[in-house]
Amino acid sequence: MLFITHDLGLAADRAEHLVVMYKGQVVESGPSREILTDPRHPYTKRLVSAAPSLASKRLEVARQDDIDVSPTGAIEAPMLERAAEREEQADEVPASEPPLIQIKDAQKIYKLRTRGLAKKEVRAVDSVSVDVARGTTTAIVGESGSGKSTLAKLFLQLEPLTSGSIEFDGRDMTRLSRKELLAFRRRVQPVFQDPYGTLDPQYSVGNTIAEPMAIHGVGTPKSRRERVEELLEQVALPTELRDRYPSELSGGQRQRVAVARALALQPEVLVLDEAVSALDVLVQGQILQLLTKLQHELGLTYLFITHDLAVVRLVADNVCVMRQGQIVERGTTDELFDNPREEYTQRLLEAIPGASFEFATEA
Ligand SMILES: Nc1ncnc2c1ncn2[C@@H]1O[C@H](COP(=O)(O)OP(=O)(O)OP(=O)(O)O)[C@@H](O)[C@H]1O
Ligand SMILES: [Mg+2]
Repeated sequence: MLFITHDLGLAADRAEHLVVMYKGQVVESGPSREILTDPRHPYTKRLVSAAPSLASKRLEVARQDDIDVSPTGAIEAPMLERAAEREEQADEVPASEPPLIQIKDAQKIYKLRTRGLAKKEVRAVDSVSVDVARGTTTAIVGESGSGKSTLAKLFLQLEPLTSGSIEFDGRDMTRLSRKELLAFRRRVQPVFQDPYGTLDPQYSVGNTIAEPMAIHGVGTPKSRRERVEELLEQVALPTELRDRYPSELSGGQRQRVAVARALALQPEVLVLDEAVSALDVLVQGQILQLLTKLQHELGLTYLFITHDLAVVRLVADNVCVMRQGQIVERGTTDELFDNPREEYTQRLLEAIPGASFEFATEA
């Protein structure tokens, strides 16, 4: 089997032999265990030390007040600080401010077209209630098909609810006028799972990122061009990429374009549906750091949908575990990781690729 991945945990679990590529060249190859425990090339060292499977260890570092571990990889001080901060906040009395997002008993039933008279229904989301406080990150995790993306689409007003209600900032979302819906679309931005499907192939990268600003009449063509440059820099893409088209980008570059586009209007809420799952750990760390920084500075609220529990541990304040359309377990990130109650959650945690593998810790 030839297995192409950026996920070192998977590589450790699945492959006997590992080949590491960097800028179009093979920089290191050999038995997986050897490379992952004793990387030689600087790039491999950075990759290995940034593997988020190390997340729990890194958080422990944050707990012992000294954060003088040199930031070797992608996951650096701001994230550790935030993790430490979260710990402190967990002890505080919950704020009395009403939740920014309030989903109550949401239900989505899809009717499937079938031959003959028999009707088939899929309960994609089934009596789900979630509150999200302003400035926090709530992760939705669960296996494929558990209803995560559907829940996101319901909140984003891309699919109508079958029943239940969704409030945003105290407003009932089912009764928005067109004008209010437009305002909502400016405040809440999605980054979707599949950038192939969501980026218009006819739009250059620059135009893709500038489009939301143009639609909402923000700025002048000149100021928009400047903002595009700033955004490209924020997501660590070279400015030259501005004139390329989505088909001329790598998967990870495309995903970063989607993130830049979502940030263009300076939204209050980002709904990130597997937004960093396709990125290698270094770029992933970069984006997660950017998101952490923005949250810190601007008080952004994140709905973070992922199957990657190692990443959840780093960024989320609260976690909801979904299964077959329902939330089967919820809690603060630390509660859930340290003490999962449901067997299903335990299995998800055990299934983190490379969870049992000892990576080289320090490059
Ligand atoms: N438009 C649709 N019509 C019919 N069924 C749908 C539709 N969209 C989703 N479903 C079904 O609803 C369920 C939940 O799908 P959803 O996309 O929310 O899963 P998910 O948790 O995001 O999975 P993944 O991790 O694979 O992205 C699945 O069983 C899926 O087949
Ligand atoms: Mg999905």
